[in-house]
Amino acid sequence: MKNIEWCNDALVLLDQTKLPTQVEYIHCTDWRQVAEAIKMLRVRGAPAIGVAAGYGLILAANEANRLEAPFSEQISAFYEWSEELKETRPTAINLAWAVNRVMAIVKAGQFDAMNEVVDRITKEAIAIHKEDVELNTRMAINGATLFEGKKHLRILTHCNAGALATGGLGTALGVIRKLHEQGQLEMVYADETRPLLQGARLTAFELHEDKIPVTLETDNMAAYAMQQGLIDAIIVGADRITTQGDVANKIGTYGLAVLAKFHNIPFYVAAPYSTFDFTLKHGKDIPIEMRTDDEVLTFQGVPSAPTGIHVLNPAFDITPHELVTAIITEEGVLTPDYQESIARLQSVVEAK
Ligand code: MRU
Repeated sequence: MKNIEWCNDALVLLDQTKLPTQVEYIHCTDWRQVAEAIKMLRVRGAPAIGVAAGYGLILAANEANRLEAPFSEQISAFYEWSEELKETRPTAINLAWAVNRVMAIVKAGQFDAMNEVVDRITKEAIAIHKEDVELNTRMAINGATLFEGKKHLRILTHCNAGALATGGLGTALGVIRKLHEQGQLEMVYADETRPLLQGARLTAFELHEDKIPVTLETDNMAAYAMQQGLIDAIIVGADRITTQGDVANKIGTYGLAVLAKFHNIPFYVAAPYSTFDFTLKHGKDIPIEMRTDDEVLTFQGVPSAPTGIHVLNPAFDITPHELVTAIITEEGVLTPDYQESIARLQSVVEAK
């Protein structure tokens, strides 16, 4: 099932808010529809929102091209809209990374007309998507090396870091898929992931569709599962990783990492280069998206708490690097000292 497709000058997105009960696609012909889809989590997952924003920029450039105005005015409208797209969600750095990558070409290029910009950025947006597919596969191979010689693995994952969250196989679920393909996987334990149920609605759905054994648990059952010896390793995705290896991911990830430490279970993070923020050292400096109260106060539109009550609804939390056993990337597996291994990753990628 394709989650993102560029088709005849439109971006076709699978509406993930409707899964698993309805499979509906949205045809975006206006960049504002892409912005809305990102905000509302119709498309979600750090790499996927980067890919979607890349295509959203083509729609914005097309609109700028239709303005009956001089090129300088068209381009300044385009810059303004690119900033709006970039600001749709604050935590996942892949979004800003993709927008900055495309806009760097626009800023550097000697373009004379908007249609030249459209042609060039179309190529770049398609390249971002294609690269994401490829690097998911490399990440899966690299992650599987951590489990060499091991069988009957029981892996816990949180939220959805799968095909629905990326352009390819997924980050954490890419590694899990590889282990399944190699006959090493016994069971995936999928955390339900309150409040929006990405684990139940999306991860359990994806794995079940692909006939990968999955057991769903509510978030508060993870400690029990670890205490009972049901979990061999945890693999999660990430929305942003700092230069010292602090990890922002879906709310609840930090709690899992603390539990993993107590139960002596390895805690792995799988993420591509585009998830690293080389401008930040400390996780506390990562902006955490706060979402609306109704996500916690209601369940599928039905009130599940007294109206008017105070709500805390951060979409992400920060796992300090001390709790992360290894970070799986497309360039290899990074281990502590992360300051050194992440700096090496940066120089390898920049040298390419
Ligand atoms: O709010 P979401 O559903 O976009 O959150 C997604 C996650 O937290 C994922 O774990 C993360 O983006 C990695 S996806 C490969």
